[in-house]
Amino acid sequence: MSFKRIISESAAANRSPIVLALDLVREDKEALFKQSLSMIRSASRFLCAVKINRQLVLPLGLLDRVAALVDEIHGQGLPAIMDAKINDIGHTNELIASQYFSAGFDAVTASPFVGYKDGLEPVVRLAKSQQRGVLLLVHMSHKGASEGYGQTVIDQSTGQRRPQFEVLAEKALRWDVDVVIVGATFPETIRTVRSILGDSVPVFSPGVGVQGGSLSEALAAGAKYVIIGRSIYESEDPARSAESMRRSVEVRG
Ligand code: XMP
Repeated sequence: MSFKRIISESAAANRSPIVLALDLVREDKEALFKQSLSMIRSASRFLCAVKINRQLVLPLGLLDRVAALVDEIHGQGLPAIMDAKINDIGHTNELIASQYFSAGFDAVTASPFVGYKDGLEPVVRLAKSQQRGVLLLVHMSHKGASEGYGQTVIDQSTGQRRPQFEVLAEKALRWDVDVVIVGATFPETIRTVRSILGDSVPVFSPGVGVQGGSLSEALAAGAKYVIIGRSIYESEDPARSAESMRRSVEVRG
């Protein structure tokens, strides 16, 4: 089953568009592992996926503790996304993606600026051969994101001046990636990207809560899923926070 189908089924089953960014920080590795495991167990039923970042992979080790977390995420009926932001030459990119897929991840994030040929093409090919997903950054969520993703560029194919993110959204279609990422802090950009992509490539939107983005605005602008970290895991009761966010935007069917 494709990544798009897996996440659409988990979103429907849990009536949730929320991807938890599991970015916990603890000095003690054992405590970090246990807290991560317990957060997955308590919050899963309010989520459609869990995303893991390199700050968890570095202390816990990919094929040891992180693979165990991925097993737990799968055991809860959810897909696991690795926020790898793959960004090197094709040969290296393929080896990196392959490591994450071996640990069980269902999808990886990738940066578009390395281009396709000898950049992301080997990753897209590998992902398709293993029925995994590639999530392409089209506009990031942080304040400085507009310096790169929002700058005006000359479209190589038409010679026209356009915002970088529009050109990247069209590349996402040509490269046949599964998902694009646009920050919730740029709802107008979500709207424009959605109009380029239509329904075939869903938009994931990080930046809700602490970074200033609004959950309901991101979804209204056309995001299908939202990625939320600190507003859930730093709250007093993370499962209850996830539940109340889900209630505010409940997905049906
Ligand atoms: P917070 O705590 O701000 O966490 O809710 C957000 C999570 O999402 C990641 N993030 C991004 N990942 N493109 C991405 O691929 C983005 O534009 C982006 N913005 C935030 C961040 O690393 C954290 O895990």
